[in-house]
Amino acid sequence: MTEALLRYRSEFPILERTTYLISNSLGAMPRGVYDAMKGYADIWATRGVRAWQERWWQLAADVGDEIGGLMNAPKGSVSTHQNVTSCQAIVASCFEFSSKRNKIVYSDLNFPSVMYFWEAQRALGARVHMVKTDDGITVPTERMLDAIDERTLIVPISHVIFRSAYIQDAEAIIEKAHKVGAHVVLDVFQSLGTVPVDVQALDADFACGGVLKWLCGGPGVGYLYVRPDLGRQLKPRFTGWFAHQNSMAFEAGPIRYAEPPFRFMNGTTHVPALEAARPGLRILTEVGIPRIREKSKRQTTRLIELADRHGWRVNSPRDAEKRGGTVSIDMPNSEEVCRELLKREILVDWRPKAGVRFSPHFYNTDEELEIGISAVEEILKDRAVAVR
Ligand SMILES: Cc1ncc(COP(=O)(O)O)c(C=O)c1O
Repeated sequence: MTEALLRYRSEFPILERTTYLISNSLGAMPRGVYDAMKGYADIWATRGVRAWQERWWQLAADVGDEIGGLMNAPKGSVSTHQNVTSCQAIVASCFEFSSKRNKIVYSDLNFPSVMYFWEAQRALGARVHMVKTDDGITVPTERMLDAIDERTLIVPISHVIFRSAYIQDAEAIIEKAHKVGAHVVLDVFQSLGTVPVDVQALDADFACGGVLKWLCGGPGVGYLYVRPDLGRQLKPRFTGWFAHQNSMAFEAGPIRYAEPPFRFMNGTTHVPALEAARPGLRILTEVGIPRIREKSKRQTTRLIELADRHGWRVNSPRDAEKRGGTVSIDMPNSEEVCRELLKREILVDWRPKAGVRFSPHFYNTDEELEIGISAVEEILKDRAVAVR
């Protein structure tokens, strides 16, 4: 039944030329991006500065709503930005670290950019507590929950871990954080588009991510959901004229904040990237996350079976319910194997302590999984002959 999804293959030109198994890193470009980019250039060329009023100013909010629709965010609750790191900075700028509540709790399996950002806030008084993984695959939930206490201000977590695709128990972490008065910044970069995300059901305070992986939206668009009640109260210090109630009045002095989503924006928006993101968002919305998830669980299970058959180490959860869209396989000489796969037009990536990451998406055939794994087998065989 999920093979009905294969009819979308023709929307993605790169699938004709490569075995594309790397949607955890960069989703395939939809054909529609060519027209979107031409449309952007045409508007700029013909409408000139009027484009701001006619389309561009509102685009940042419109694209926010399109992304929000995929995670059950209410309209107007998602602002768009360049990347996840700047979303963290916007959230941080809503709080201060000078009171007793100044602890940041995160896991060492977080995406490093997020760690680097929060570690740097030590200079402003933040106390940072890193929870360590035991196996390099999972985050020990109990240890996370124990670390979140009455002094905790922010808990920045990845919903799905980039290295292993482990799905964190976001619900338990958010519940504990709320019990002690802390806020969770849920990074859904590796979940939204392949794993169901419902920010309202999770009662997430903040959720952020980007469109370039599972949402096939290209680089340059990050997004930030702020729970509506918080959104009306918070006053980001990282702010600018797009967040002003009346930007065009060019008032001197302090800002008067607009309502969300513009309240969380700052300077001139990234119009071309926003235009490029739309064809992917349109397709993802049409396909629907439940169908994508169903297929993903089946295909990632198959990848694990194939890895097991060869005795290769699997650095992703074996339980499909706890696994996102990626299977990390650490076969012998995995970094070199990855380089060789790329030369053979089999697109994957390699990460330290993970191995080769295989990430099928709704547009991949089952045969492509076999092609990828058979190529690894062949590369290892050739290598063994070469070193004999
Ligand atoms: C979970 C997660 N968060 C964040 C990022 C990237 O952060 P940024 O958007 O700041 O480049 C990635 C990967 O690129 C990721 O996998």
